[in-house]
Amino acid sequence: MDAWRLRGLCLLVLSAAARRVTSLEETLADPARGNPVEPLTDSWDRQDDSSHHAYAKFSLRKPSHPDDDLCYIVPGKNGTLAACAFNDTSKTFLVIHGWTLTGMFESWVPKLVSALHERERAANVIVVDWLASAQNHYVVAAQNTKAVGQEVARFIDWLEETTSLPLENVHLIGYSLGAHVAGFAGSHANNKVGRITGLDPAGPDFEGQLAHRRLSPDDARFVDVLHTFTRGSLGLSIGIRQPVGHVDIYPNGGAFQPGCDLRGALERIAHLGLLAVADAARCERERSVHLFIDSLLNQRQAPTAYRCGSGEAFERGVCLGCRGSRCNTVGYGASRVRGPRGGPMFTRTRASMPFRVYHYQLKIHFSRVVRSEVEPSITVSLYGTRGEAENLELNLKEKIASNATHSFLLVTDKDVGELLMLQFRWEETGGWSASGAWRAVTSWWSGHSDSGNMEVRKIRVRAGETQRKIVFCVKNPAAQSVAQEVTFVKCKDPWRTNRKQTQKRVTVKSH
Ligand SMILES: *[C@@H]1O[C@H](CO)[C@@H](O)[C@H](O)[C@H]1NC(C)=O
Ligand SMILES: *[C@@H]1O[C@H](CO)[C@@H](O)[C@H](O)[C@H]1NC(C)=O
Ligand SMILES: *[C@@H]1O[C@H](CO)[C@@H](O)[C@H](O)[C@H]1NC(C)=O
Repeated sequence: MDAWRLRGLCLLVLSAAARRVTSLEETLADPARGNPVEPLTDSWDRQDDSSHHAYAKFSLRKPSHPDDDLCYIVPGKNGTLAACAFNDTSKTFLVIHGWTLTGMFESWVPKLVSALHERERAANVIVVDWLASAQNHYVVAAQNTKAVGQEVARFIDWLEETTSLPLENVHLIGYSLGAHVAGFAGSHANNKVGRITGLDPAGPDFEGQLAHRRLSPDDARFVDVLHTFTRGSLGLSIGIRQPVGHVDIYPNGGAFQPGCDLRGALERIAHLGLLAVADAARCERERSVHLFIDSLLNQRQAPTAYRCGSGEAFERGVCLGCRGSRCNTVGYGASRVRGPRGGPMFTRTRASMPFRVYHYQLKIHFSRVVRSEVEPSITVSLYGTRGEAENLELNLKEKIASNATHSFLLVTDKDVGELLMLQFRWEETGGWSASGAWRAVTSWWSGHSDSGNMEVRKIRVRAGETQRKIVFCVKNPAAQSVAQEVTFVKCKDPWRTNRKQTQKRVTVKSH
C-alpha cells in the first residue's frame, strides 16, 4: 500500500472517530448553549476561505457551566475582560481542540475545563474555538494551525499589554492538531508563555518537520507532551512519534493503551467493521487527555514516568532509576526540566482512572539453567506492609541464559506498601510432561537442581515509585525443591554472599 492510500485509511479512521461525539440534533435543539455551531453543509463551501481567514474565538468558561460558551473575550475590546470577570492574578489556561468533522467540541473539552477549575480554583479557563478552521479536510486543517496559532499569539500579546498577567502564568493545552496550534502560538507571541502541554500532537504533516513548523521545546519555557497513539506503518503515525518537548512521555510505549482494545479491533476488523477500529483509535488518542485530567483530579496518585533509551528496555525494567531527573510526574504535576530534552520517557498505566500503577524491577541472577526447552508461564505475587498483589504475570521475553542476570518489569495497580515477600508460581504452557518440567523450573528458583548447583541465589528488587532497593532470598530452600511455588523473603544478611560488600558494610557501621 502506498503512503497516500495509507494516509487515506488513517484519515478515514479518524473522521469516523470524530463523528461519534454528542448528537448533533441535541446540540442544535438547545438554544441555551449559545454554541456557534455552523450547519454542517456550510463548511465545505467555506473551505477555500477558511484557510486564508483563520479565526479563533476565546470563550471564558465558568466552573458552573463547563460546557457552555457564555462569555467571549475579544482581543482589542478591553471591556470584555471585565465583562467575563477575567482575573489577571490567577493562572490562565487556553484549551485548544484538534481536528473536527462535526464542527462541535468533543466531550473531553468540558471534562478538562472542569478538572482545571477543580485543581486551580480561581483560574481563567479559556476554550479556544477554531472549529470553523478545524472542520476541513485534514490537510487543510493542518495547514490552518499556523494562522490560528498566530491569532492565538496576538490574543496572548494583547492580554499581556492590557492586563498585569505574567506570561509565566499562561498555560496552553492543545490536543492533536491543537498541540501544533499551541506551538505556533508560543513561537509567535512576543514573549514566551510559561507552559505548553501537547496531548498526542498530530503526526501527519508534522512528523520530521523543522522545529518552527510544529510544536517544539522553543515554544514555551516548559513544553511537556503525552504521546498515546504513535501507531502506524510505513512511517506514518496518527500521533507524532518524535519527541517534541522538554519532557516527552509515552504511556504504555505510546502504542496500545489498556482498555482501548485497538489490537482486538484490528484483528477482528472484518467482524467489527471500521467504526469499531475508529472508536478504539479515538480511545487511544484521547487517552492523553484523560491521563492529564487524572493528574489534575488525583494529584497524589499521578503516575511516574521514567527516562529510557527504548520501550523495550523499559519493558525489561532496567529504567526505574530517578537520579539526575530521569523520572518525572505524568501530567499537570510534571516538574520542569531545563536544558535540552533528554529523550523519551515511559510509564505503564491502568485502563481507567486513576491510571497510576506501581513499577518494580526484578533482577534475577541465574547461575545455571536447566537445559530443557522449558517455557513456563510464571506469575509473581507481591506481599507488602499494606497489602498484596497476586498472580502478576512475569514477562519472559528473552531466553534465560546461564550465568546471567535477567531483568524483568512487574507492575501492579495495588499499593502493597513496603515489599516483604515474593512468591513465584508457574504453570506448564507446552505439551511437555508435568513432573519433569516442574522439577526443572523449580530448580531455577530453589537452588536444588539435580546437579547440586545453586540456581537462583537472590532477587534484587527496585521499586520505581519509592526508589527503594531490596534483596530477597529463598525462604526455605530444602522445603521447596519439589513445590510448584517458591517463596522469597527479605534476606537476613543480603551481603553475606559478597565478601567485598560485607567489608564495606562493616567499615561504615563502625563509624
Ligand atoms: C483572583 O485570583 C486570586 C488567586 O489567584 C484570588 O485570590 C482572588 O480572590 C481572585 N479575584 C476574584 C475577584 O475572584
Ligand atoms: C486597552 O488597554 C490598553 C492598555 O491598558 C490601552 O493602551 C488601550 O488604549 C485600551 N484600549 C481601549 C479600546 O480602551
Ligand atoms: C560464571 O561467571 C563467573 C564470572 O563471570 C565465572 O567466574 C564462572 O566461571 C561462570 N560460571 C559458569 C558455570 O559459567
